[in-house]
Amino acid sequence: MANYKVANEKLAAQGRLKIEWAESRMPVLMRLREKYSKTKPLKGQRIAGCLHVTKETAVLVRTLAAAGAEVSWSGCNPLSTQDDIAAALAADGISIYAWHNLSREEFYWCIDRTLDFKPTLTLDDGADLIFSVHNKHQELLKYVIGGTEETTTGVHRLRAMAKDGALKYPVVAINDAETKWDFDNVYGTGQSSIDGILRATSVMLAGKNFVIAGYGHCGKGCASRARGMGANVIVTEIKPTAALKATLEGYRVMPMDEAAKIGDIFITATGMKDVIVDRHFRSMKDGAIVCNTGHYDCEINLGDLEKLAKNTREVRPNNDEHTMADGHRIYVLGKGRLVNLAAAEGHPSEVMDMSFANQFQGMLFMSREGKNLKADVYTLDPKLDQEIASIKLEATGIRIDKLTDEQVRYGSDYAHGT
Ligand code: ADE
Repeated sequence: MANYKVANEKLAAQGRLKIEWAESRMPVLMRLREKYSKTKPLKGQRIAGCLHVTKETAVLVRTLAAAGAEVSWSGCNPLSTQDDIAAALAADGISIYAWHNLSREEFYWCIDRTLDFKPTLTLDDGADLIFSVHNKHQELLKYVIGGTEETTTGVHRLRAMAKDGALKYPVVAINDAETKWDFDNVYGTGQSSIDGILRATSVMLAGKNFVIAGYGHCGKGCASRARGMGANVIVTEIKPTAALKATLEGYRVMPMDEAAKIGDIFITATGMKDVIVDRHFRSMKDGAIVCNTGHYDCEINLGDLEKLAKNTREVRPNNDEHTMADGHRIYVLGKGRLVNLAAAEGHPSEVMDMSFANQFQGMLFMSREGKNLKADVYTLDPKLDQEIASIKLEATGIRIDKLTDEQVRYGSDYAHGT
């Protein structure tokens, strides 16, 4: 009997329908499930996962379980858990501790519960689970043979830990797989962030000044999708090459101090704290909309806004109006947390298919190799990217060309020049 704590068990049937919908759009993961449910390579592994509880995650969890693993799960963000999905997983016998809108204490309580069964593998999005094992539950280090990390922010922190010798077991950086960062971060974040903004506001994007802080992969995705809907995109950056790329893409680039005065909608995608602070809020137009799509909720300094605001009220789900002393209003979406998961359903299933195929491969790799690896950050074999992309193309009915033998010879021939 699995242990679990979810908001409402009665939502299981609704959750199952959503998971089925996602399964019908995740051919790569389903192919892996079919293959490995026969051989059960994860038998004997106890996987603790800390990753947004969505219908796509449920497809991953079911696939890990089908491959023989015992699984225990928590969400990795207080606002991203979808309660019907959590209920469906609990009904399927998964140990899951997750509900929407939990407090900080409850968040860490849930993580602690997933550690009760002494995991052999950890699966993270944002590294909170790995940090919990390292900082609070070091007695569990002897059981853990390896882990995986989903996101850019988490991977940065783990690399910093590895450099300091503070990382105690090997971890695969899932984010570094081409079929993850070049798709999920760009197209996934682009679409789902716009989705979150629209669900929370229902505003028209065409003609709006749409300010994007950070022109990394996520910022790039948001920019292209916002432009596609007719917005005037403005980018703020700290990195010269990124700023230059945004300029050549045709976007206006300027410091946040200037963008703050003219923006209608702001989204932060930097991974850095204090991107929008007191002086920016003061100079924003009446009605400005502010949100974040970075992993942590520190990019918009809400403490500063709360000090400035005389009144705060929720005007729509995931949309809080803050009214300043002079009467001008600023709307914050999803309490400054990931707007795509707080106000919408996260990235579409089609793109999470590839990200989670990488997660699954990461778990297989660590269950096979973890014991022999030193504590460091690893990347998956790039051959897997081509395999994942091939299945995806095949499932989409898209065929591609193949080199002839002569072309293969030509490709490695250094005898001939012009
Ligand atoms: N991160 C972004 N979108 C997601 C989704 N749909 N499921 C899980 N994690 C996500």
